[in-house]
Amino acid sequence: MLDRMGATEDAALRSFAGAASPADEAGRAAVWRRARAVIPGGVNSPVRAWGSVGGEPFFARRGEGAYLEDTDGKRYVDWVQSWGPLVFGHADPEVVEAVQEAAADGTTFGAPTEREVELAEEICAAVPSVEKVRLVSSGTEAAMSAVRLARGFTGRGRILKFAGCYHGHADTLLIDTDALVCPFNDADAVSDAVERHGEQLAGIVVEPVAGNMGVVPPAPGFLEALRDLSDASGALLVFDEVITGFRVARGGAQERYGVRPDLTVLGKIAGGGLPLAAFGGRAEVMDELAPEGPVYQAGTLSGNPLATAAALAVLRRLRDPDVYRQLEETGAALEAGLRHEDVTVQRIGSMLTVFFRSAPVRNVEDARAGDLDRYGAFFRHLLAHGIYVAPSQFEAFFVSTAHGPGEVERTVEAAQEFLAG
Ligand SMILES: Cc1ncc(COP(=O)(O)O)c(C=O)c1O
Repeated sequence: MLDRMGATEDAALRSFAGAASPADEAGRAAVWRRARAVIPGGVNSPVRAWGSVGGEPFFARRGEGAYLEDTDGKRYVDWVQSWGPLVFGHADPEVVEAVQEAAADGTTFGAPTEREVELAEEICAAVPSVEKVRLVSSGTEAAMSAVRLARGFTGRGRILKFAGCYHGHADTLLIDTDALVCPFNDADAVSDAVERHGEQLAGIVVEPVAGNMGVVPPAPGFLEALRDLSDASGALLVFDEVITGFRVARGGAQERYGVRPDLTVLGKIAGGGLPLAAFGGRAEVMDELAPEGPVYQAGTLSGNPLATAAALAVLRRLRDPDVYRQLEETGAALEAGLRHEDVTVQRIGSMLTVFFRSAPVRNVEDARAGDLDRYGAFFRHLLAHGIYVAPSQFEAFFVSTAHGPGEVERTVEAAQEFLAG
């Protein structure tokens, strides 16, 4: 995700005052000043600083379904949904109840719990390639651990990844010089790299539907080619389904596209809105992990009781295909309403990006070639109309079941007003 890799703030845009009244600004500005005094950049994750779209971020106070309220009492239709985890919207009553009940019994034990087993069973039943799974606390940790396991299993060191895909901030997966990097959707480039370095390759790591360059679907045959090239080289194929898992289908992109990776990285929806992520795959590979095998991996809060309770409250309801039908319908209505000759709307199920260019986006170079300033203006226009979308072009709208025709209509109206201007 480009912003997380250090986009600089545009001073002119930063002076933007949004739609808030002067009184609102005073409250928000004061907290923002305090935040920057004690937290680097004022935020605990860079994209939250709105560096690439301008303005000073609001501070969230509460959420309810499709809506988010800030500390100044302004309400927004929220298409960010915490960057994807909240498939049933904010403060979903079943999740809240499950977490409350779990908390009353203790917030962490550092000993195995039955709920961890239930969640692992749920994940293994849902995700086609996952026979065994280990729970961790963040997507970064899950991706990092999957790489460590791929290295341990293959006895090799190198990783092949794709420009513009994001897998958290572990060095190997963030710093391009630490890995072989190919353009997304370019199977020929992967084939060349495998020909040259195949014997050193531990894994090919990919977002099967890219979400961190904006939404970019895999070209027909791309994922199949990665499967074949992994097999030919002996490298493990690792799907990072932190965004796509339980979103583009219950079984993630691997269910939707029918390609099975060796390892899968999960997060976001899989944690039901709490800090929980996972990595899983073939039993033969997963059994290399300690204490069964030699690859050490551990975590004090792994399989945390509150997080597993939230995850189960969400994942069990995702057995119902009607949920995915509803997400698809809402996503399709939003996509249809946002179409305009100046933009390209790319959508897979309930994840969608409006790119400010008229040609399709196949990789991060295409995404960068769009009009990023205009995206910033689009963000600010929607915000002024009480609609919160990702404060970066290289992200997605996330549809939840809490978004209905009213939220779609309001968003489309404001967006079309902007696009007509
Ligand atoms: C595809 C993908 N992988 C990994 C991560 C890292 O997850 P986390 O932010 O939970 O560390 C993200 C975060 O957005 C992601 O989108």
